[in-house]
Amino acid sequence: MSKKIKVAVIGLGYWGPNIARNIHSLDNCELATVCDLEKDRLDQVSQQYPKAKACSNVESVLYDREIDAVAIATPLHSHFPLAMASLEAGKHVLVEKPLAATSEQCVELTQTAAKRGLILMVGHTFLYSPEVSKLKEIIDSGDLGTIRYINSRRLNLGLFHNDINVAWDLAPHDISIILHLLGEAPVSVHCSGAKHVVHEVEDVTTMSLNFPGRKTAIITSSWIDPRKVRETTIVGSKGMAVFDDVELREKIRIFDARVERPPHYDTFAEFHYAYHHGDVRIPFVKPAEPLRNECQHFLDCIIRGISPRTPGEAGTQVVKVLEAATESLNLNGVEVRLKGNRSAGLTPLSAMRPYHHSNSLLKVGNLD
Ligand SMILES: NC(=O)c1ccc[n+]([C@@H]2O[C@H](COP(=O)([O-])OP(=O)(O)OC[C@H]3O[C@@H](n4cnc5c(N)ncnc54)[C@H](O)[C@@H]3O)[C@@H](O)[C@H]2O)c1
Repeated sequence: MSKKIKVAVIGLGYWGPNIARNIHSLDNCELATVCDLEKDRLDQVSQQYPKAKACSNVESVLYDREIDAVAIATPLHSHFPLAMASLEAGKHVLVEKPLAATSEQCVELTQTAAKRGLILMVGHTFLYSPEVSKLKEIIDSGDLGTIRYINSRRLNLGLFHNDINVAWDLAPHDISIILHLLGEAPVSVHCSGAKHVVHEVEDVTTMSLNFPGRKTAIITSSWIDPRKVRETTIVGSKGMAVFDDVELREKIRIFDARVERPPHYDTFAEFHYAYHHGDVRIPFVKPAEPLRNECQHFLDCIIRGISPRTPGEAGTQVVKVLEAATESLNLNGVEVRLKGNRSAGLTPLSAMRPYHHSNSLLKVGNLD
Protein backbone atom coordinates (compact mmCIF):
# COMPACT_ATOMS: atom_id res chain seq x y z
CA MET A 1 0.00 0.00 0.00
CA SER A 2 1.35 3.45 -0.85
CA LYS A 3 2.41 5.85 1.89
CA LYS A 4 -0.16 8.34 3.14
CA ILE A 5 0.39 11.98 2.22
CA LYS A 6 1.01 14.03 5.34
CA VAL A 7 -0.79 17.36 5.32
CA ALA A 8 -0.56 20.40 7.60
CA VAL A 9 -3.44 22.88 7.80
CA ILE A 10 -2.34 26.46 8.54
CA GLY A 11 -5.06 28.83 9.77
CA LEU A 12 -7.87 27.45 11.93
CA GLY A 13 -10.37 30.31 11.98
CA TYR A 14 -13.70 29.94 10.20
CA TRP A 15 -12.66 27.94 7.12
CA GLY A 16 -9.49 26.04 8.13
CA PRO A 17 -11.35 23.58 10.42
CA ASN A 18 -13.48 22.52 7.43
CA ILE A 19 -10.31 21.70 5.49
CA ALA A 20 -8.88 19.84 8.52
CA ARG A 21 -12.12 17.81 8.84
CA ASN A 22 -12.00 16.79 5.18
CA ILE A 23 -8.28 15.99 5.15
CA HIS A 24 -8.78 13.91 8.30
CA SER A 25 -11.61 11.96 6.67
CA LEU A 26 -9.85 11.05 3.40
CA ASP A 27 -8.16 7.69 2.94
CA ASN A 28 -4.89 8.44 1.25
CA CYS A 29 -3.69 11.14 3.61
CA GLU A 30 -3.05 12.01 7.22
CA LEU A 31 -3.81 15.25 9.00
CA ALA A 32 -0.28 15.55 10.41
CA THR A 33 -0.25 19.08 11.85
CA VAL A 34 -2.66 21.89 12.65
CA CYS A 35 -1.22 25.38 13.01
CA ASP A 36 -2.63 28.74 14.14
CA LEU A 37 -1.12 31.82 15.74
CA GLU A 38 -4.01 32.00 18.20
CA LYS A 39 -3.84 29.57 21.09
CA ASP A 40 -7.61 29.36 21.53
CA ARG A 41 -8.18 28.36 17.93
CA LEU A 42 -5.30 25.90 18.04
CA ASP A 43 -6.50 24.27 21.27
CA GLN A 44 -10.07 23.97 20.07
CA VAL A 45 -9.16 22.29 16.79
CA SER A 46 -6.30 20.14 18.08
CA GLN A 47 -8.61 18.63 20.71
CA GLN A 48 -10.60 17.13 17.85
CA TYR A 49 -7.50 15.61 16.25
CA PRO A 50 -5.30 14.38 19.09
CA LYS A 51 -3.00 12.47 16.73
CA ALA A 52 -2.11 15.62 14.78
CA LYS A 53 0.76 17.82 16.02
CA ALA A 54 -0.34 21.29 17.11
CA CYS A 55 1.90 24.30 16.57
CA SER A 56 1.62 28.07 16.62
CA ASN A 57 4.59 28.88 14.40
CA VAL A 58 4.76 28.08 10.73
CA GLU A 59 8.48 27.27 10.91
CA SER A 60 7.64 24.02 12.69
CA VAL A 61 5.62 23.01 9.64
CA LEU A 62 8.23 24.18 7.14
CA TYR A 63 11.15 22.39 8.85
CA ASP A 64 9.17 19.17 9.34
CA ARG A 65 10.52 16.90 6.62
CA GLU A 66 7.66 14.47 7.22
CA ILE A 67 5.07 16.95 5.93
CA ASP A 68 4.41 16.63 2.21
CA ALA A 69 1.75 19.27 1.70
CA VAL A 70 0.16 22.30 3.36
CA ALA A 71 -3.30 23.85 3.10
CA ILE A 72 -3.33 27.58 3.85
CA ALA A 73 -6.55 29.14 5.21
CA THR A 74 -5.26 32.40 6.68
CA PRO A 75 -6.23 36.00 5.81
CA LEU A 76 -5.33 37.19 2.31
CA HIS A 77 -2.23 39.29 3.16
CA SER A 78 -0.47 36.17 4.49
CA HIS A 79 -1.21 33.90 1.51
CA PHE A 80 1.86 34.91 -0.52
CA PRO A 81 4.53 34.72 2.23
CA LEU A 82 3.15 31.46 3.63
CA ALA A 83 2.67 29.81 0.23
CA MET A 84 6.10 30.93 -1.02
CA ALA A 85 7.84 29.72 2.15
CA SER A 86 6.02 26.39 1.88
CA LEU A 87 6.99 25.91 -1.77
CA GLU A 88 10.58 26.84 -0.95
CA ALA A 89 10.51 24.21 1.79
CA GLY A 90 9.47 21.63 -0.84
CA LYS A 91 5.80 21.29 0.15
CA HIS A 92 2.83 20.98 -2.20
CA VAL A 93 0.44 23.86 -1.51
CA LEU A 94 -3.32 24.39 -1.47
CA VAL A 95 -4.10 28.08 -0.88
CA GLU A 96 -7.56 29.39 -0.12
CA LYS A 97 -9.09 31.93 -2.49
CA PRO A 98 -8.01 34.52 -3.52
CA LEU A 99 -4.60 33.01 -4.32
CA ALA A 100 -2.68 36.16 -3.34
CA ALA A 101 -3.10 39.91 -2.90
CA THR A 102 -1.64 40.84 -6.33
CA SER A 103 -1.44 39.14 -9.70
CA GLU A 104 2.35 39.55 -9.63
CA GLN A 105 2.47 37.48 -6.45
CA CYS A 106 0.23 34.86 -8.08
CA VAL A 107 2.56 34.62 -11.07
CA GLU A 108 5.59 34.31 -8.77
CA LEU A 109 3.96 31.47 -6.83
CA THR A 110 2.95 29.71 -10.05
CA GLN A 111 6.47 29.97 -11.47
CA THR A 112 8.08 28.78 -8.24
CA ALA A 113 5.79 25.75 -8.05
CA ALA A 114 6.49 24.87 -11.68
CA LYS A 115 10.26 25.28 -11.24
CA ARG A 116 10.25 23.00 -8.20
CA GLY A 117 7.85 20.44 -9.64
CA LEU A 118 5.33 21.01 -6.85
CA ILE A 119 1.54 21.25 -6.93
CA LEU A 120 0.10 24.72 -6.38
CA MET A 121 -3.68 24.72 -6.21
CA VAL A 122 -6.09 27.53 -5.34
CA GLY A 123 -9.27 26.81 -3.37
CA HIS A 124 -11.85 27.87 -5.95
CA THR A 125 -14.19 25.55 -4.10
CA PHE A 126 -17.20 25.90 -6.40
CA LEU A 127 -15.30 24.37 -9.30
CA TYR A 128 -15.45 21.15 -7.26
CA SER A 129 -19.21 21.39 -6.75
CA PRO A 130 -21.30 18.82 -8.65
CA GLU A 131 -23.83 21.54 -9.51
CA VAL A 132 -21.25 23.73 -11.24
CA SER A 133 -19.97 20.68 -13.12
CA LYS A 134 -23.56 19.97 -14.20
CA LEU A 135 -24.05 23.56 -15.37
CA LYS A 136 -20.83 23.36 -17.39
CA GLU A 137 -22.03 20.10 -18.97
CA ILE A 138 -25.40 21.70 -19.87
CA ILE A 139 -23.77 24.80 -21.36
CA ASP A 140 -21.21 22.77 -23.33
CA SER A 141 -23.99 20.51 -24.69
CA GLY A 142 -25.49 23.57 -26.38
CA ASP A 143 -28.89 23.13 -24.66
CA LEU A 144 -28.97 26.79 -23.63
CA GLY A 145 -27.73 28.02 -27.02
CA THR A 146 -25.20 30.84 -27.07
CA ILE A 147 -24.64 32.23 -23.59
CA ARG A 148 -25.56 35.90 -23.49
CA TYR A 149 -25.43 36.84 -19.83
CA ILE A 150 -24.71 35.51 -16.32
CA ASN A 151 -25.96 37.12 -13.13
CA SER A 152 -24.44 35.95 -9.85
CA ARG A 153 -25.54 37.15 -6.42
CA ARG A 154 -23.87 36.33 -3.09
CA LEU A 155 -25.60 38.24 -0.31
CA ASN A 156 -25.84 37.75 3.44
CA LEU A 157 -25.43 39.43 6.80
CA GLY A 158 -21.78 38.52 6.42
CA LEU A 159 -18.62 38.41 8.48
CA PHE A 160 -16.85 41.75 8.10
CA HIS A 161 -13.13 41.77 7.30
CA ASN A 162 -10.95 44.79 7.99
CA ASP A 163 -8.30 44.09 5.39
CA ILE A 164 -10.41 43.25 2.33
CA ASN A 165 -13.71 44.47 0.96
CA VAL A 166 -16.71 42.32 0.12
CA ALA A 167 -15.63 41.94 -3.52
CA TRP A 168 -12.29 40.33 -2.54
CA ASP A 169 -14.10 38.19 0.04
CA LEU A 170 -17.09 36.85 -1.90
CA ALA A 171 -16.70 37.60 -5.61
CA PRO A 172 -13.76 35.16 -6.15
CA HIS A 173 -16.39 32.41 -6.01
CA ASP A 174 -18.56 34.03 -8.69
CA ILE A 175 -15.63 35.06 -10.87
CA SER A 176 -14.16 31.55 -10.82
CA ILE A 177 -17.57 30.01 -11.63
CA ILE A 178 -18.23 32.45 -14.49
CA LEU A 179 -14.76 32.10 -16.05
CA HIS A 180 -15.11 28.32 -15.85
CA LEU A 181 -18.62 28.28 -17.37
CA LEU A 182 -17.74 30.63 -20.20
CA GLY A 183 -14.28 29.14 -20.72
CA GLU A 184 -12.72 32.55 -21.27
CA ALA A 185 -11.49 35.62 -19.44
CA PRO A 186 -13.21 39.04 -19.56
CA VAL A 187 -11.69 41.90 -21.48
CA SER A 188 -12.87 44.65 -19.13
CA VAL A 189 -14.57 45.27 -15.81
CA HIS A 190 -16.74 47.97 -14.20
CA CYS A 191 -17.21 48.02 -10.46
CA SER A 192 -19.08 50.26 -8.07
CA GLY A 193 -19.67 49.89 -4.36
CA ALA A 194 -20.48 51.54 -1.08
CA LYS A 195 -19.17 51.60 2.50
CA HIS A 196 -22.13 51.57 4.87
CA VAL A 197 -20.85 50.12 8.12
CA VAL A 198 -17.04 50.46 8.21
CA HIS A 199 -15.76 53.67 6.64
CA GLU A 200 -12.75 52.17 4.87
CA VAL A 201 -14.25 48.96 3.50
CA GLU A 202 -16.95 48.44 0.84
CA ASP A 203 -19.69 46.14 2.15
CA VAL A 204 -21.70 46.12 -1.09
CA THR A 205 -20.25 45.93 -4.62
CA THR A 206 -21.58 45.38 -8.12
CA MET A 207 -19.16 44.25 -10.76
CA SER A 208 -19.84 43.82 -14.44
CA LEU A 209 -17.55 41.77 -16.61
CA ASN A 210 -17.45 42.23 -20.38
CA PHE A 211 -16.45 39.25 -22.48
CA PRO A 212 -15.73 38.94 -26.18
CA GLY A 213 -18.85 38.64 -28.35
CA ARG A 214 -21.00 41.00 -26.21
CA LYS A 215 -21.36 38.44 -23.43
CA THR A 216 -21.65 40.01 -20.00
CA ALA A 217 -21.78 38.97 -16.37
CA ILE A 218 -22.95 40.89 -13.33
CA ILE A 219 -21.78 40.00 -9.83
CA THR A 220 -23.43 41.47 -6.73
CA SER A 221 -21.70 40.92 -3.39
CA SER A 222 -23.05 42.07 -0.04
CA TRP A 223 -22.32 41.61 3.67
CA ILE A 224 -25.41 43.58 4.70
CA ASP A 225 -28.36 41.75 3.21
CA PRO A 226 -30.97 40.20 5.53
CA ARG A 227 -31.29 37.02 3.47
CA LYS A 228 -28.65 34.52 2.44
CA VAL A 229 -28.62 34.49 -1.36
CA ARG A 230 -26.26 32.30 -3.41
CA GLU A 231 -27.72 32.37 -6.90
CA THR A 232 -26.30 32.20 -10.40
CA THR A 233 -28.55 32.73 -13.44
CA ILE A 234 -27.34 31.83 -16.91
CA VAL A 235 -29.18 33.28 -19.87
CA GLY A 236 -28.67 31.66 -23.26
CA SER A 237 -30.22 32.25 -26.67
CA LYS A 238 -32.24 28.98 -26.41
CA GLY A 239 -32.77 28.50 -22.67
CA MET A 240 -31.90 29.65 -19.18
CA ALA A 241 -30.62 28.02 -15.99
CA VAL A 242 -30.70 29.03 -12.33
CA PHE A 243 -28.35 27.56 -9.72
CA ASP A 244 -29.69 28.29 -6.24
CA ASP A 245 -27.12 27.05 -3.75
CA VAL A 246 -29.27 27.90 -0.74
CA GLU A 247 -31.77 25.19 -1.74
CA LEU A 248 -31.02 21.91 0.01
CA ARG A 249 -32.07 19.83 -2.98
CA GLU A 250 -32.99 20.55 -6.61
CA LYS A 251 -30.46 23.36 -6.78
CA ILE A 252 -30.54 23.66 -10.60
CA ARG A 253 -33.56 24.55 -12.71
CA ILE A 254 -33.46 24.70 -16.49
CA PHE A 255 -36.04 27.00 -18.05
CA ASP A 256 -37.19 26.51 -21.61
CA ALA A 257 -37.51 30.26 -21.81
CA ARG A 258 -36.11 32.76 -24.23
CA VAL A 259 -36.72 36.11 -25.75
CA GLU A 260 -36.05 36.88 -29.36
CA ARG A 261 -36.25 40.15 -31.16
CA PRO A 262 -38.66 39.64 -34.06
CA PRO A 263 -37.28 40.67 -37.45
CA HIS A 264 -40.08 43.23 -37.80
CA TYR A 265 -43.01 44.33 -35.65
CA ASP A 266 -45.51 47.19 -35.93
CA THR A 267 -47.15 47.19 -32.53
CA PHE A 268 -46.02 46.57 -28.96
CA ALA A 269 -48.47 43.62 -28.78
CA GLU A 270 -46.69 41.90 -31.66
CA PHE A 271 -43.37 42.32 -29.85
CA HIS A 272 -44.65 40.03 -27.08
CA TYR A 273 -44.76 37.09 -29.51
CA ALA A 274 -41.01 36.96 -29.29
CA TYR A 275 -41.17 35.66 -25.69
CA HIS A 276 -41.17 31.92 -25.18
CA HIS A 277 -42.19 30.28 -21.88
CA GLY A 278 -41.83 26.50 -21.85
CA ASP A 279 -41.27 23.78 -19.26
CA VAL A 280 -38.99 23.94 -16.27
CA ARG A 281 -36.69 20.94 -15.80
CA ILE A 282 -34.78 19.89 -12.67
CA PRO A 283 -31.78 17.74 -13.56
CA PHE A 284 -30.63 15.12 -11.07
CA VAL A 285 -27.32 15.99 -9.44
CA LYS A 286 -25.75 13.60 -6.96
CA PRO A 287 -24.96 15.67 -3.88
CA ALA A 288 -21.36 15.92 -2.67
CA GLU A 289 -19.44 18.34 -0.48
CA PRO A 290 -17.38 20.56 -2.80
CA LEU A 291 -14.60 21.00 -0.23
CA ARG A 292 -14.22 17.25 0.13
CA ASN A 293 -13.90 16.94 -3.66
CA GLU A 294 -11.38 19.80 -3.63
CA CYS A 295 -9.22 18.17 -0.93
CA GLN A 296 -9.40 14.79 -2.70
CA HIS A 297 -8.40 16.44 -5.98
CA PHE A 298 -5.39 18.10 -4.30
CA LEU A 299 -4.22 14.69 -3.08
CA ASP A 300 -4.87 13.07 -6.47
CA CYS A 301 -2.78 15.74 -8.16
CA ILE A 302 0.10 15.05 -5.76
CA ILE A 303 -0.19 11.30 -6.19
CA ARG A 304 -0.55 11.33 -9.97
CA GLY A 305 1.70 14.31 -10.63
CA ILE A 306 -0.92 16.17 -12.66
CA SER A 307 -1.87 19.84 -12.72
CA PRO A 308 -4.98 20.74 -10.69
CA ARG A 309 -8.28 21.89 -12.15
CA THR A 310 -7.65 25.18 -10.34
CA PRO A 311 -3.89 25.77 -10.75
CA GLY A 312 -1.92 28.95 -10.04
CA GLU A 313 -2.92 30.31 -13.46
CA ALA A 314 -6.61 30.13 -12.52
CA GLY A 315 -5.87 31.94 -9.26
CA THR A 316 -3.97 34.60 -11.22
CA GLN A 317 -6.90 35.18 -13.58
CA VAL A 318 -9.35 35.68 -10.73
CA VAL A 319 -6.97 38.12 -9.00
CA LYS A 320 -6.53 40.06 -12.28
CA VAL A 321 -10.30 40.54 -12.42
CA LEU A 322 -10.33 41.67 -8.77
CA GLU A 323 -7.49 44.12 -9.43
CA ALA A 324 -9.32 45.62 -12.41
CA ALA A 325 -12.50 45.82 -10.30
CA THR A 326 -10.59 47.61 -7.53
CA GLU A 327 -9.18 50.12 -10.01
CA SER A 328 -12.66 50.73 -11.40
CA LEU A 329 -14.10 51.09 -7.89
CA ASN A 330 -11.46 53.70 -7.08
CA LEU A 331 -12.32 55.55 -10.31
CA ASN A 332 -16.08 55.65 -9.62
CA GLY A 333 -16.98 52.74 -11.84
CA VAL A 334 -15.18 53.56 -15.10
CA GLU A 335 -14.44 50.66 -17.44
CA VAL A 336 -11.01 49.15 -16.77
CA ARG A 337 -9.39 46.78 -19.23
CA LEU A 338 -7.76 43.75 -17.71
CA LYS A 339 -4.03 43.94 -17.04
CA GLY A 340 -2.33 42.06 -19.85
CA ASN A 341 -4.44 40.99 -22.78
CA ARG A 342 -4.70 37.44 -23.95
CA SER A 343 -1.35 37.52 -25.63
CA ALA A 344 0.34 38.83 -22.49
CA GLY A 345 -0.50 37.65 -19.05
CA LEU A 346 -3.99 36.22 -19.33
CA THR A 347 -3.79 32.57 -20.18
CA PRO A 348 -6.73 31.49 -22.34
CA LEU A 349 -8.61 29.02 -20.13
CA SER A 350 -8.58 26.46 -22.90
CA ALA A 351 -4.77 26.44 -22.70
CA MET A 352 -4.78 25.35 -19.06
CA ARG A 353 -4.59 21.62 -19.77
CA PRO A 354 -3.47 19.15 -17.15
CA TYR A 355 0.22 18.41 -17.52
CA HIS A 356 2.48 16.01 -15.72
CA HIS A 357 4.85 17.27 -13.08
CA SER A 358 8.24 15.74 -12.73
CA ASN A 359 7.35 14.64 -9.22
CA SER A 360 4.87 11.94 -8.37
CA LEU A 361 3.93 9.76 -5.48
CA LEU A 362 7.43 8.32 -5.67
CA LYS A 363 8.76 11.57 -4.26
CA VAL A 364 6.21 11.89 -1.47
CA GLY A 365 8.01 11.56 1.82
CA ASN A 366 11.32 11.93 0.02
CA LEU A 367 11.35 15.69 -0.37
CA ASP A 368 14.56 17.65 -0.34
N1 LIG B 1 -13.42 28.37 -0.22
C1 LIG B 1 -14.35 28.88 0.55
O1 LIG B 1 -15.54 28.63 0.37
C2 LIG B 1 -13.95 29.80 1.67
C3 LIG B 1 -14.87 30.13 2.67
C4 LIG B 1 -14.45 30.98 3.71
C5 LIG B 1 -13.16 31.47 3.73
N2 LIG B 1 -12.31 31.15 2.72
C6 LIG B 1 -10.92 31.66 2.70
O2 LIG B 1 -10.19 31.08 3.78
C7 LIG B 1 -9.21 32.00 4.26
C8 LIG B 1 -9.41 32.18 5.76
O3 LIG B 1 -10.69 32.75 5.97
P1 LIG B 1 -11.40 32.66 7.40
O4 LIG B 1 -12.74 33.25 7.20
O5 LIG B 1 -11.25 31.30 7.94
O6 LIG B 1 -10.50 33.68 8.25
P2 LIG B 1 -10.39 33.77 9.84
O7 LIG B 1 -9.90 35.15 10.12
O8 LIG B 1 -11.63 33.28 10.48
O9 LIG B 1 -9.24 32.72 10.20
C9 LIG B 1 -7.90 32.91 9.86
C10 LIG B 1 -7.04 32.18 10.88
O10 LIG B 1 -5.68 32.23 10.44
C11 LIG B 1 -4.86 32.44 11.57
N3 LIG B 1 -3.59 32.99 11.10
C12 LIG B 1 -3.35 34.21 10.57
N4 LIG B 1 -2.05 34.33 10.20
C13 LIG B 1 -1.46 33.14 10.50
C14 LIG B 1 -0.14 32.64 10.36
N5 LIG B 1 0.84 33.38 9.84
N6 LIG B 1 0.12 31.38 10.79
C15 LIG B 1 -0.84 30.61 11.35
N7 LIG B 1 -2.12 31.05 11.52
C16 LIG B 1 -2.42 32.29 11.09
C17 LIG B 1 -5.65 33.38 12.45
O11 LIG B 1 -5.21 33.33 13.80
C18 LIG B 1 -7.08 32.84 12.26
O12 LIG B 1 -7.42 31.88 13.25
C19 LIG B 1 -9.41 33.29 3.45
O13 LIG B 1 -8.50 33.30 2.40
C20 LIG B 1 -10.84 33.16 2.91
O14 LIG B 1 -11.03 33.86 1.71
C21 LIG B 1 -12.67 30.31 1.72
